[in-house]
Amino acid sequence: MSFIVAIDGPAGVGKGTIANLVAEKFGFLNVDTGAMYRAISHYLIKNNILLENTEEVKKALENIEIDIEFKDSEQILSLNGEKLISELRTKEVNAIVSQVSHIPEVRTAMVELQRKIAVGKSMVMDGRDIGTNVFPNANVKIYLDATPEERANRRMKQNQENGIDIPYEEVLENIKFRDHNDKTSKVAPLKKADDAILIDCTELSLEQLSNKVYEIIEEKMKQVTTSQKEVKPTKKKKVVEEYDKPEDSLWMKLQRRFIWHTLRGFYKIFYRLEVKGLENIPEEGAFIVCGNHVDFMKVPVIVIYATRKINFIGKAELFNNPFLARLGELFDVIPVKRGKQDVDSMKKSLKVLAKGEGLGLFPEGTRNGIAKKVKVKNGAAFMALRTGKPIVPVGIKVQKGKIIVNYGKLIDYSKYQSKTPEKETLDKVTEDLMNTIIQLTNEA
Ligand code: DC
Repeated sequence: MSFIVAIDGPAGVGKGTIANLVAEKFGFLNVDTGAMYRAISHYLIKNNILLENTEEVKKALENIEIDIEFKDSEQILSLNGEKLISELRTKEVNAIVSQVSHIPEVRTAMVELQRKIAVGKSMVMDGRDIGTNVFPNANVKIYLDATPEERANRRMKQNQENGIDIPYEEVLENIKFRDHNDKTSKVAPLKKADDAILIDCTELSLEQLSNKVYEIIEEKMKQVTTSQKEVKPTKKKKVVEEYDKPEDSLWMKLQRRFIWHTLRGFYKIFYRLEVKGLENIPEEGAFIVCGNHVDFMKVPVIVIYATRKINFIGKAELFNNPFLARLGELFDVIPVKRGKQDVDSMKKSLKVLAKGEGLGLFPEGTRNGIAKKVKVKNGAAFMALRTGKPIVPVGIKVQKGKIIVNYGKLIDYSKYQSKTPEKETLDKVTEDLMNTIIQLTNEA
C-alpha cells in the first residue's frame, strides 16, 4: 500500500520538523521539496546565471539532473551527481530561492520530479503546493499555519542554534515578505487545499502538534485499510453465473458455457493449469487485470478461472478468423486496432470500468514477453490513472509444459488519478506494474 501525506504551509511554520517526525513514526520516506528549489538556486548562483535571463535559466534546467535518494528514510539530494547539503542553506541561496521557485519552468520540472519519486511509495512531502497541485489526491493533507510573529520567534531560535545573528525585526520582515510572495505568486500560490486540515500551531508545543498530526494520519490509515477490506476478496464464486449476466440468447449462453468448460478441461489436461491467488480478484467493483502476454494460446487461462467477468482487450486482427471472432463475441473481447489511437476501444474499455466490471489487458501490448525487455505500452497505467480503478497484476509462467497463473494483490494507484495523466507518471506506474508482474511470474 502506498500512502501520501502532504504538509503545506508558510515559511518557518515547522513543516520540515513535523514531516521528519511523521516519517520516523510511520516509517515513511520524507521528501523536502524546498531542497529541490534550493538546489536549482545553488546551480544558478554557481554558474552566474541571472534570474532575469529567462532563456539562460531555461537552458540551465536542461543541464540539471536532480537525484533524490533515501538513507534511513532521510532525503539525500544530488545535483548532477554531486551531493548537496550545506550548499542548500547558504545566505545566497536563501536570498533567491523564493524567486526561483516562482519560475514556471522550474516549477513544472520539480512537480514532475516530485510525482515521479512518489510512485508506489509511502511518504510525507512538505512544501507549498503539495496538497493543491502535486498530489491533489493525497491520503492526508495538512495545512500548518502560525502568526508571522510566532514563526519569526521560531526562526530566531533556529538561527541562534546555528550561530546566525539577525535582528528580530529583520527576520519578521523577511517572513512577511516571503508570505506575500508565496501567496500572491502567479504560479501555484500558497493556499490551503479545500480538503486539507488546517492546524494553527501558534499556541501548540511541538509535542501537541505532532500528536495531533499523528492522530489525523492514524485515523485516515484506518479508513484506507477498512475500505480496502470492503473490496472483499472471494474464493469460490461461480464464474458461469457471472458470464451469464448480460442478457444474451439462450443459444449464446449455452455456447459460452460449453466453451468455458471445454477450455477448463483442455488446459487442465494438456497444460496442468494451476491458478494461484484467485482471492485477490475483488468481489465487487471495477478492476483492471494485467498480465504478461506469454502467447496467444495462454490468454484464455486468465479468463476461465477468474471469479469475475473480465472483458479483455484483443487485437482487432483476431476477429478476421471466424472462430476467434465468435469467441471474442461470447467473451466480450474488446477489439483494438494496433499502432494507432483507437478511440472506440478506449471508450468501450472506460464503459466496462464505469459499469463496475473487470477489464483485462496485457501492458506489453505485444507477445514478445517481459524477458525480451520490449518497450512496454502504457495502456493499463492509463486506464488505472484515468479511472482511479485498482489493478490486479497477474504473472503467467510456463514451465516444462505446465502453466501457472499467479494473481497478485490489488494495486491502488488512485492517488494519481487524472483525466490527462502525465507521461512521466504513466511510465513510472507502468514500470512499477511490470516489476510486480515479473515478480509474480518468478514466484509462480
Ligand atoms: O521550505 P524551504 O524554505 O526550504 O523552501 C524554499 C523555497 O522554495 C521557499 O521560498 C518556498 C519554495 N517552495 C515552493 O515554492 N514549493 C514547494 N513545494 C517547496 C518550497
